Amino acid sequence: MLKFIHLTDTHLVGQGVRLYGLDPHQRLKQALADINKHHGDAHSIVITGDLTNWGGEDEYQALADALALSRLPVRLILGNHDHRARFRNAFPDAMADENGYVQDVTDTDFGRMIFLDTLMEGTHAGWLCEERLNWLGARLKETGGPVYLFMHHPPFDIGMPGMDQYGLIQKEEFKAVIHPYKSRIRQIFFGHIHRPIHGEWLGIPFSTLRGTNHQVWMDLEGRADGNLPMSYERPAYGVVLIDQTITLIHEHDYLYDDEIYLGDPPEGLSEYDYATTGFDHHE
Ligand SMILES: [Fe+2]
Repeated sequence: MLKFIHLTDTHLVGQGVRLYGLDPHQRLKQALADINKHHGDAHSIVITGDLTNWGGEDEYQALADALALSRLPVRLILGNHDHRARFRNAFPDAMADENGYVQDVTDTDFGRMIFLDTLMEGTHAGWLCEERLNWLGARLKETGGPVYLFMHHPPFDIGMPGMDQYGLIQKEEFKAVIHPYKSRIRQIFFGHIHRPIHGEWLGIPFSTLRGTNHQVWMDLEGRADGNLPMSYERPAYGVVLIDQTITLIHEHDYLYDDEIYLGDPPEGLSEYDYATTGFDHHE
């Protein structure tokens, strides 16, 4: 069984700075503490981009400080809010392909994890230039087993105009590169959307989840002015469990602080009485 943690859109700002009224540093530290406590047996953590909010040096330093708490190795992918050179300064040992993009593979007993860099500085849209697409094609070609793709931008529209305006530009080119291998691609994990979305595309399952700081409100209509509605829905991380037969993704509300209660009644009380009158909890 391959077990790893999917985190996304941490949007770190400098220590002590708030973002939309929230503290991204604290939010990430709470996630890492929970992961350390309950999932110390996992292979790794993958953060699918928007590591920082403004791409600042102090923000990457804040990220490094927070990640020092993790007992698991962490794979860092860039998103549209990141800055490649400043990221590289703060994380000199981070992955790099032959062209300097933050891309790499990890081969596991259950297949190959491929990490992609869709950042084009100056735009919030996603970008996969020919160099990066060629790299992806070569990595797919050289392995014969199952593949798991990780990227910040989804490679297709997700039906929310407010987000699709910042989608991957090279959707057709990406599709052409993966097409010969799509029966071996078992999952695409992405970020960017700040919402839980899962389904399949071209027969390939995909998933994303809420960020650790702020969220995007579900708006399938889109505002006339193109402005993006955002929300304070709770953050989550994903626990991914993979073997030859199944990919399981448990999405966990790690800031849940209400009661945990048992489903079965105590001795002497019927299920009906327990469920209908045995609680003094009210919303
Ligand atoms: Fe984001």
